[in-house]
Amino acid sequence: MAWLLPRRCYLKVCSQTSRGPFLSSIVRAWSGGPLTAYMPEAVSFPGSKNHQGLYRMSVEQVDTFWGTLGRNRLTWISPFHSVQDCNLEQGWVAWFLGGQLNVAVNCLDRHVHRAPNKVALIWEKDEPGKEVQITYRELLELTCRLGNTLKRQGVKKGDRVTIYMPPCPLAVASMLACARIGAIHMLVFAGFSAEALADRIQDAQSETVITVNQGLRGGRVTELKQTVDQAVKWCPKVKRVLVSMRTEQKVPMSDLDVPLDEEIMKEDVCCEPVAMDSEDLLFLLYTSGSTGKPKGLVHSQAGYLLYAALTHKYVFDYHDGDVFGCVADIGWITGHSYVVYGPLCNGGTTVLFESTPLYPDPGRYWETVERLRINQFYGAPTAIRLLLRYGDKWVKKYDRSSLKILGSVGEPINTEAWEWYFNVVGEARCPVVDTWWQTETGGICISPRPSDPGDEIRPGLAMRPFFGISPCLLDDKGNVLTENDVSGALCISQAWPGMARTIYNDHKRFLFMFLTATGFFFTGDGVYRTSEGYYQLTGRLDDVINISGHRLGTAEVEDAVNQHAAVAESAVIGYPHNIKGEGVYVFLVLKKGIYISRETLTADLQELISKKIAKYAAPEYVQITSRLPKTRSGKIMRRVLKKIVENKAHQLGDLTTLEDYEAVQKIIEEHKCLL
Ligand code: PRX
Repeated sequence: MAWLLPRRCYLKVCSQTSRGPFLSSIVRAWSGGPLTAYMPEAVSFPGSKNHQGLYRMSVEQVDTFWGTLGRNRLTWISPFHSVQDCNLEQGWVAWFLGGQLNVAVNCLDRHVHRAPNKVALIWEKDEPGKEVQITYRELLELTCRLGNTLKRQGVKKGDRVTIYMPPCPLAVASMLACARIGAIHMLVFAGFSAEALADRIQDAQSETVITVNQGLRGGRVTELKQTVDQAVKWCPKVKRVLVSMRTEQKVPMSDLDVPLDEEIMKEDVCCEPVAMDSEDLLFLLYTSGSTGKPKGLVHSQAGYLLYAALTHKYVFDYHDGDVFGCVADIGWITGHSYVVYGPLCNGGTTVLFESTPLYPDPGRYWETVERLRINQFYGAPTAIRLLLRYGDKWVKKYDRSSLKILGSVGEPINTEAWEWYFNVVGEARCPVVDTWWQTETGGICISPRPSDPGDEIRPGLAMRPFFGISPCLLDDKGNVLTENDVSGALCISQAWPGMARTIYNDHKRFLFMFLTATGFFFTGDGVYRTSEGYYQLTGRLDDVINISGHRLGTAEVEDAVNQHAAVAESAVIGYPHNIKGEGVYVFLVLKKGIYISRETLTADLQELISKKIAKYAAPEYVQITSRLPKTRSGKIMRRVLKKIVENKAHQLGDLTTLEDYEAVQKIIEEHKCLL
């Protein structure tokens, strides 16, 4: 039983580099046990003698690998007859066909049978030291009461339920209650404005909204119910708004509103789970693309759940008894997969973080780690960059000996942040897993896997594909680049269980955006494959920018800017920002005969965009100019503007199609004055 002993690991930082400090090599050795201790299913994979063998099996013998894991790791109401039927060329993806299961049963009931009093959720409330622990039994009861409330209110299988809530146990129970009764949940990040919320409610044709009276974040109150009231005015189809009380503050209630806390107490603690087909819809989640309209990505039941659970287990080396601390908001995909579904499917203990990294002071994360004894900490580079500015003392003040793995997600992590995270936060003993993935992929796709004994981790590299992921690189003509030491567009050449199935009500758009003519899944990200075959993400290839790990389509912001009465046309660009990764920079031309100062316009646009989209999308810089650089056919040359905001005006590239060179010169001069 040697594998039951605590694992010993050590990390060694070497300064040897081949491409500057980014590639200082981190080598990890692990005294792990046999492969079957790592993955018991390996017994049935006689061909795979080591971890590379397991990976090969996952992409070459897809039915055996995924079929075995699907049977072993999920609890089925009726078994599946085929592991998968996928054809990316035609945009058809289906896993575990013929099988029926219930996601809430997999996340709750089966753990309640084994360990009812095990803590499922630790709600780390905004005020430090006020955490609430919820056991699996309690979470199941809350979920069932909520499921019964939803049914009593008329919610049926297949209905879309909007959840506009901060991280709290009731939000998790709402997600699971939907899963239990077969409804489709749609979370909207509670920082989104009334208009953004209304757009999503309308697009999803949702009749039910669940919210709280007020949110509390960083010591500040947000009037979430008021935002919902505003949004539902534009959504005539909404029939009910279920309101829970996060604070004591009473809020006006209309005929649509249902006092949720009172209603759930009237309901039974048992709620029959509905048998769902593997490919029935589990949730919609809206995300920005390169057009003005956010798209509702669709995730289905079995494949998503299995993929979230497996990545949670193997990327973070999660073991029974560990406390998993993902500080993402549940309104994003990271919250779905690694606060809720992955950890709960694995019967783990997961933290729901309601606060911010700076509240009440810059030691908040590490004080929480000490108090809750967090073993795996998963956060965003933007927060790490912010915290490192406050110095090491805020970290060192707290005991971080519980930490085993540190995770990073949402954007590239720069070397300085990586080194600080590794050396200061993790005391140079916790592997940092830089995890690359997207809302579309459902779970982590490229990441180091420190649970693999031969694993090697290098700063700034997402390293290697997860089980089932076959990355491939395309050049700008669509040719596959097979060699190493090459950059290209990151695609994935075969379907995997966790991938999104479609865009809600717009399958054509899904095919157009994500699937190449040759049948590859197109991620929209650029990647460099090193000479050893490791992957380093290099940023978006399209007009999507990434602000503090939040995706934003520049077209969305332009739509909002163009609604200002003074604006004739605009171009929105992401510029490098020390903390947020990217910030929003607006170039615009005023309507003829209008004068407005840049300061007033900036303030107006910040307000307008916060109202139309969300506060995080508000621009830092607004540059008024007389002409935008355009091609002869009238297309705005954003790549030229991008070089200007990156202060690379000397590298504008090919300008042969540019109509008016003087316009560019003028913009460069104006830009210098603005800084
Ligand atoms: O550009 C990539 C970036 O975030 C995008 C996905 O955003 P979203 O769907 O909101 O999901 C964020 C959380 C998974 C990707 O297309 N991204 C995400 N993780 C990384 C990253 N870029 C570089 N390195 C990462 N680790």
